Amino acid sequence: MSPQQQQCPIAHDQVALNGAFKANAPAQYARLRALGPVHRAEFHGGLTGWVVVGHDLAREALTHPALLKDTAPAAEQLTAAGYTLSQPGVGLVDHMLDADPPRHTRLRRLVAGAFTPRRTAQLAPRIERIAHDLLDALPPTGETDLVEAFNAPLPVTVIAELLGIPQEHREDFRTWSTHALQVASPDHRSSLVGLRGLLRDLVQAKRRAPEDDLLSALVQAHDQEDGQLSEDELVGTSMLLIVAGHETTVNLLGNATLALLQHPGQLRLLREQPDLLPGAVEEFLRHDTSVERSTNRYAAEDIELGGVTIPRGSVVTVALGSASHGASEARGEDPMVLDVTRPNARHLAFGHGIHYCLGAPLARLEATIALGTLLSRVPELELAVSPDSLAWIPSGMMRGLVSLPVRYTRSRGERP
Ligand code: HEM
Repeated sequence: MSPQQQQCPIAHDQVALNGAFKANAPAQYARLRALGPVHRAEFHGGLTGWVVVGHDLAREALTHPALLKDTAPAAEQLTAAGYTLSQPGVGLVDHMLDADPPRHTRLRRLVAGAFTPRRTAQLAPRIERIAHDLLDALPPTGETDLVEAFNAPLPVTVIAELLGIPQEHREDFRTWSTHALQVASPDHRSSLVGLRGLLRDLVQAKRRAPEDDLLSALVQAHDQEDGQLSEDELVGTSMLLIVAGHETTVNLLGNATLALLQHPGQLRLLREQPDLLPGAVEEFLRHDTSVERSTNRYAAEDIELGGVTIPRGSVVTVALGSASHGASEARGEDPMVLDVTRPNARHLAFGHGIHYCLGAPLARLEATIALGTLLSRVPELELAVSPDSLAWIPSGMMRGLVSLPVRYTRSRGERP
């Protein structure tokens, strides 16, 4: 038996990661982990590559010196499968998540200061007000889609205010960045172009009249500190922050709320002991995270991963939620069990290595405040539909609900 067959018993009929797989991804990944830590996989558009599902191998892959963001070795098959490559004029161009060092280091450093735990903590009062305003806008009792009413507008407002995106553009940004993440969406490319166009206009506006926001600071880095940031990098960085900064959190909030509604004992516990919330957020990130898979890496040379030879030019992705579940299994725990008191819920939800999520402190803060406010202000909350009828968004990378219909009664609550 070749090493590849030993590690990947289903090598011949590779795993199709979209469609039916999405509906029950955690159980599907558990099946794959039992077979081996890395598998042949088929992505959108017939693109093929490898998916790493085991925890230790995930960490190895995310720091592997020959698994890079440079698409050149894989360009032919990516283009054939209809993927938008990072090239000026189209895609989510020129940002840190598509860059290798030293460009990655430079681009990350330019915005890192805005996302430190200390700077992020200063946003807490504003995030609390946004959460209360959204709940106040709901009728005192009734049925609503929690994604549209609460989970989406909260992170969108936070990242839009940070960047300085005027109110009138926020709905467009939300729609476009949702489609920008869904390679399979017919609106994928036009959304990227739309986002890019609007950001270019905004950059001009901030240049004429700078304000106290991140976009104005980036424009200054471009204009004043010569060579630090090109115009494409400026627009690309802003696009990345918009897309990475909200879709991820919207979906985490939905997955976490669904998990609580399906585990009433855990919901009761959190309502009774809100100080468990920060630990519970780590458990939600471990239990059912929103970034199901990492962005793609491309093999710059032939490499050996988990005993499998992966040829130069291969696409490699890491199933982050699966890797977190693998870590639980290694500790002898059942990964599917939700336990908001789990000590040290170790997970890979924010990735690993140089691309580790820049917004992790903000995501944690938003999730803690959003879920805490929801639980304290909405004493009665239940699913308004059968869990089987809930649909998952058709994105390869993301795991999140299309909608979350709930029946609720909210209190007036104490505003901060
Ligand atoms: C629950 C919410 C979030 C999750 C689960 C999450 C997850 C991730 C993951 C897994 C990566 C690495 C992807 C890879 O290596 O392929 C990443 C990168 C990144 N995230 Fe987040 N994220 C979240 C929220 C945010 C927020 C609120 C921001 C704020 C702007 C943000 C900004 C970024 C940026 C800029 C990167 C690229 C970092 C780099 O390339 O060095 N994320 N995120």
